[in-house]
Amino acid sequence: MGYETLMHGFQTIIEPFRIKSVEPLRITSAEERLGKLKQAGYNLFALHSDDVMVDLLTDSGTGAMSSEQWAAIQRGDESYAGSPSFYRFEAAVKALFDFKHVIPTHQGRAAEKILFSVVGGPGKVVPNNTHFDTTRANIEFTKATAVDLVIPEGKQPSVYHPFKGNMDLAALERCITEHGRDKIPMVMVTITNNSGGGQPVSLENLRGVRAICDKYELPLFLDGCRFAENAWFIREREPGQGERSVTEIVKEIGSLADGMTMSAKKDGLANIGGWLALDDDAWALKCRNLLILTEGFPTYGGLAGRDLDAIAQGLQEVVRHDYLMYRIRSTQYVGEGLLKLGVPIVEPTGGHAVYIDARALLPHIPPLQYPGQALATALYEEGGVRGCEIGTVMFGLKPDGTEAPAAMDLVRLAIPRRTYTQSHMDFVIEVMGRVMKRAKSLKGFQIIEQPPALRHFSAKFAPLL
Ligand code: F0G
Repeated sequence: MGYETLMHGFQTIIEPFRIKSVEPLRITSAEERLGKLKQAGYNLFALHSDDVMVDLLTDSGTGAMSSEQWAAIQRGDESYAGSPSFYRFEAAVKALFDFKHVIPTHQGRAAEKILFSVVGGPGKVVPNNTHFDTTRANIEFTKATAVDLVIPEGKQPSVYHPFKGNMDLAALERCITEHGRDKIPMVMVTITNNSGGGQPVSLENLRGVRAICDKYELPLFLDGCRFAENAWFIREREPGQGERSVTEIVKEIGSLADGMTMSAKKDGLANIGGWLALDDDAWALKCRNLLILTEGFPTYGGLAGRDLDAIAQGLQEVVRHDYLMYRIRSTQYVGEGLLKLGVPIVEPTGGHAVYIDARALLPHIPPLQYPGQALATALYEEGGVRGCEIGTVMFGLKPDGTEAPAAMDLVRLAIPRRTYTQSHMDFVIEVMGRVMKRAKSLKGFQIIEQPPALRHFSAKFAPLL
């Protein structure tokens, strides 16, 4: 009997693991945290992480590895060429995604950089449900255009839709006919849609994208960072999928595509790594040549052999139903706790993160005074919880130096995999409850120093009085 059946009817989600190695958290005072915030120019990226109590900045590379993964680390073979670690890695990837060529990279954006150096270029257009920032940046770096075509529900925080990450199929077809298929090197789909709230894409929608790609003879690539979480949502929410295993669903997802980019720092359950996988021989040849130039020999691609082994093991663990049930339920648990307090969040809760609608929560702070920054810094000051502003600070600065409000002002609480327990999450909810009580008194910010691009990483802020 599976975990789901065994746990059926229980209210408490138990983490399906116990802890063998612990990392102490440093408990700090509100006064100390305020001092650290000031020193950091109110930019949470500038904090030292040991001054953070619950770090929800990202779910990328911040997960805990299993004892089997640590054993795999020991097994890692550091041969420059042809390491058995590579062949274990390749077999683990192919067991889920049967693409002809599997090219390891040090993380997801390295796969993107190589892929778009080969297929991008001036005049090219790459549609996606929503490009993640690094994907967009790597496409735009080649002077190609990145287009986001998520369904309209995907942009409305409080509207429920089971697959809010779906591609708008009519808009995709319009995009292809308007630009002409020759301008479009590939169609991409990001599973789950991180920039749109960690929302899943349905199998039906993926089949629809495939049909359009077939009609116009275009390749379909996945940004597969959170493929297992996406497959779990399909199993839970899509009619007719509830009896299938996640592995079967993942294989079907892969069979609909011609290639993928991947950050193993997410659903690879590893702290570093990624890959580019594809069927096309000519593209693969060019990509491998670039890999050798920038990442390393094709059997290690910028990773240590031990990292390849950790990913190979992680890929076997990430599709387990007990793990995924706990993972998705525990993210929902945080969402439910916040909703009970009346906190506006993007609904339904995503797979890897809960997104708080700071603009709705702090209507007295106009977008150009950064409500997301106000909320994120208040969460840190109140309880040492570090989230990430995803709003006007991140997206508001235009290349010509002007500023405009982003579509939404969100704060993302991204949950590292297998790292925190339910009581940490109860604490996060409690901290948010305290922040809610003084929401009306929170003040906006002004930016006093910023770089010309990607300002959220290094800008300095001053609170408005
Ligand atoms: N694609 C998606 C959907 C991502 O979420 C990320 C990373 C990448 C590509 C790039 O992968 O970091 O390994 O180079 N997302 C992290 C985040 C950084 O915090 O959401 P990478």
